[in-house]
Amino acid sequence: MSAAPARHPWWQRGVFYEVYPRSFLDSNGDGVGDLPGLASKLDYLVDLGVDAVWLAPIFPSPMADFGYDVADHCGVDPVFGTMADLDALLAAAHAKGLHVIVDYVPNHTSDRHPWFLESRASRSSPKRDWYVWRDPAPGGGPPTNWLSHFGGPAWTLDARTGQYYYHAFLSAQPDLNWRNPEVRRAMLDVLRFWLDRGVDGFRVDVIWHLVKDDAFRDNPANPDYAPGQGRHRELLPVYTTDRPEVHDVIATMRRVVDEYDDRVLIGEIYLPVERVVTYYGAKEGSGVHLPFNFQLLETPWDARAIDRRIRAYERLLPAYGWSTWVLGNHDTRRIASRVGRPQARVAAMLLLTLRGTPTVYYGDEIGMLDVPIPPDRVRDPLERNLPGLGLGRDPERTPMQWGASPNAGFTAGTPWLPVAEDFRTTNVAVQRDDPRSLLTLYRRLIELRRAEPALAVGRYEPIDAAGDLLAYVREGEGRRFLVVLNLGPRPATFDLAARHLAGRVRMTTQLDREGERPGDGLDLGADEGVVLELT
Ligand code: NOJ
Repeated sequence: MSAAPARHPWWQRGVFYEVYPRSFLDSNGDGVGDLPGLASKLDYLVDLGVDAVWLAPIFPSPMADFGYDVADHCGVDPVFGTMADLDALLAAAHAKGLHVIVDYVPNHTSDRHPWFLESRASRSSPKRDWYVWRDPAPGGGPPTNWLSHFGGPAWTLDARTGQYYYHAFLSAQPDLNWRNPEVRRAMLDVLRFWLDRGVDGFRVDVIWHLVKDDAFRDNPANPDYAPGQGRHRELLPVYTTDRPEVHDVIATMRRVVDEYDDRVLIGEIYLPVERVVTYYGAKEGSGVHLPFNFQLLETPWDARAIDRRIRAYERLLPAYGWSTWVLGNHDTRRIASRVGRPQARVAAMLLLTLRGTPTVYYGDEIGMLDVPIPPDRVRDPLERNLPGLGLGRDPERTPMQWGASPNAGFTAGTPWLPVAEDFRTTNVAVQRDDPRSLLTLYRRLIELRRAEPALAVGRYEPIDAAGDLLAYVREGEGRRFLVVLNLGPRPATFDLAARHLAGRVRMTTQLDREGERPGDGLDLGADEGVVLELT
């Protein structure tokens, strides 16, 4: 076993794991996951082999958007525990070699945040300009046509002061004004607060939203709008997102993070990949380290389409840009529901053999499915505001399935969201010792990635394939691996001889053919993926 070269920092070599803290493990029976619960499961993460844990927000919050409405950026919400619990978690994780990333929510705060309370108190408040306030349009009504992601106009009238404030999401999430230098200072201090406490980095919420047009121009109509997507898609968000000035703001964040050793900034960006790559910054060290690449969430599960996306992404990356891939998160349908459980194994092999830092969403490693939520148990404000469009995110946020005991071992109380019906058969306990389980496959793939620098940090070379087959080579330190994935439900053969390739099977998604030496053709079963060590 050779170690990955030291010149690659941990956040390039390692595998990230997203925990949605409300749903991981509840230690006190209130039905909501918490920090002590997570701390008690660190060994599970170590066994799985991940290097870093990203925690979705744990800060004091009225929970209108489950923590993405922050009322105090430098605290811990009592539902998750205390600051002492957080410190203990950091210490325990670090002692086990795990890095901890926290969420950073700079675009907006809760409407209960003391800054906003002060801002809305009067037009002459010293913090008035900390948020985006505008007079009504000349004839009355909202100042621009800007729409909220969570339904309706993105402007809410504050009757007492007669002005509207802007909110890209809920009216309970007013947007901060990043053009104001005091806001910048205060929010950069938030970074320092957590860096001083020892966190290893941040996942920055909606980073492409931070700056809005200073001329407050109306957004143009979206010619491709199709009903059923949420009304905000009627407009193209050209004046509300991805403004050129956002890169100056990000550069200031990067400077703060770089005052500390070996930390990482990850940006959440839902944009076409040509735009995503601009978030590495115009020059090295001026952007985020990792702008999340969500193409596997957005691309149809089709070998040719995915192949094109991987190649295009690799071509577009700046020389100093490190790639990254994501298969699931708390805002998107679960991978096993999107592609089916047999393909979820292929998806795992894809995620963990591509070049770039992978992020695994909690529960995907055991094949958790989206859980249907009865109307009376809906919690997500997106589903409440825009019911029936399939936009709700509760289904992918349900409790982690630890075992076959009541509530899957997640809580001794009533879980805040329903537990999946299949928890007795889909859970960590049954999969842990099953040599063919999805959990074992994840563990083995991560182990292989750790053992082979070619897979962790090596070069990527596309290989032409046809039909449902997707193929590429990873190469580094004198070793080469061919990955061939069958994204379809029919067996297929990949012609090795025609490509002058030969080798030995190192791993398959069924974990059953190790050591096999295919001849001229590599036969793949339905929904099978193979890693071949080339000789
Ligand atoms: C992105 C987060 O991932 C999502 O969960 C949240 O609702 C929005 N940002 C608003 O903060």
